[in-house]
Amino acid sequence: MKNTVVVGAQFGDEGKAKITDLLASNADFIIRYQGGCNAGHTVVVDNVKYKFHLVPSGILYENKTCFIGAGIVIYPENFKNEIEELMAQGVKKEQFEKNLKISPLANITMPWHIDLDGAGEDNLGKNKIGTTKKGIGPTYTDKYARIGIRIEDLFNDEALNNKLDIILPLKNKTLDKVYGLKTYTKDEVLEKLREYKELFAPYVCFDWQDVLRDAKENKTILFEGAQGVMLDIDYGTYPFVTSSNPIAGGAAVGGGMGPRTIEEAIGVFKAYVTRVGEGPFITELTDDIGDKIQTIGAEFGVTTGRKRRCGWFDGVIAKYSVLVGGITAIALTKLDVFDTFDEIKLCIAYRNKKTGDITESYPTNVVEHYDFEPVYKTFKGWNVDITKIKNYDELPLNAKVYLEYLESYLNVPIKIISTGPDREQTIFKEKV
Ligand code: GDP
Ligand code: IMO
Ligand code: MG
Repeated sequence: MKNTVVVGAQFGDEGKAKITDLLASNADFIIRYQGGCNAGHTVVVDNVKYKFHLVPSGILYENKTCFIGAGIVIYPENFKNEIEELMAQGVKKEQFEKNLKISPLANITMPWHIDLDGAGEDNLGKNKIGTTKKGIGPTYTDKYARIGIRIEDLFNDEALNNKLDIILPLKNKTLDKVYGLKTYTKDEVLEKLREYKELFAPYVCFDWQDVLRDAKENKTILFEGAQGVMLDIDYGTYPFVTSSNPIAGGAAVGGGMGPRTIEEAIGVFKAYVTRVGEGPFITELTDDIGDKIQTIGAEFGVTTGRKRRCGWFDGVIAKYSVLVGGITAIALTKLDVFDTFDEIKLCIAYRNKKTGDITESYPTNVVEHYDFEPVYKTFKGWNVDITKIKNYDELPLNAKVYLEYLESYLNVPIKIISTGPDREQTIFKEKV
């Protein structure tokens, strides 16, 4: 397999973890490059469901190095719970200690980041973003304001102490004076930071330069994205986005091995679109069809348990996502959700409701999105259970017609088709 990045190509939850887990069997080194525990990634193996937030999905294999890169933000409490839950499901402690590595450069989500995420949302009122409340925005804000606490800081007591003297008064002022929230004493923060040091110590990869150099020179690398292109801080439906870069380019930054390490970018698309949180959604279905997709697709958020909004596949977004996401191949998931549908729609353009103008180009200013309605091309359903089909040729003709149209419309090969949550429920249309 080429060095590959798995990129969410819509609004997150496309089934990236299933694809990452699958491809991880052919990789040696799996690296998460952005985001934090806002991600909720599900892998199903032999009917057992594993949930990941920060840990790369490759941890289920015994001999794969799983690296949490510099571009990640880590909420320690969540990390601790995640490891404990995975251990309770049988992933061995030794496996974590041997295979899981954390970049010392990753930023830590501090308790005030969680407070400020909630307070920021309350402040926005009806304009809220609908964040996962995992402190993502405030942690990245501080990182870029150069007042973040990184994992490596935990291991230098004096420097950490000095850093806190700069950061804490500033944070307390914001908490108290801007939002009227509880402040933190230096002693309680130092105590927390000592706990964090103990928590992370077994995993921190101080020789990360050698480890990445070795990966770059000798290993097959799989970059695991979180969220999706339309939640990208630069290219997504700003401001209804996350605070990092899920696009393939983000892997070059957050992964730390440069852009030329990436040889293939697999964009994971669902056969329809879902979105959790607020923000415009041109192909959203608020009728029975949307409910049917939501029910059959079991569309609930892994991190927050929220019902996901559902709609038809948006080709305008998909073309844009291929461009800015840097996508070179497609994995299409959840095709099986349409097994009982008589017809399936695909949005191929937007019509401006005021002027009647048609556009095939994605309008980046989201305030304009409310002016558009989708223009659909309709396909016949197949009314066949495809969940056990292993070869592309065995798919019903109507499914192939839909897939081939999509492939030529996007001008990118569909290499993987997923027909169920399990590893086994996968069709490789082309070798990856
Ligand atoms: P991620 O965040 O992109 O990794 O995706 P999530 O795990 O949040 O959501 C995808 C959901 O769809 C999970 O419950 C998966 O187990 C499930 N899933 C993945 N691929 C398929 C598929 O092809 N068919 C069906 N029915 N479920 C799938
Ligand atoms: P995975 O990796 C779907 C959404 C939130 C909200 C917006 C900003 O499982 O695909 P944040 O907490 O990041 O500040 O929230 O982004 N969001 C996701 N939606 N899947 C995710 O991750 C998401 N991570 C964040 O719902 O709309
Ligand atoms: Mg998810």
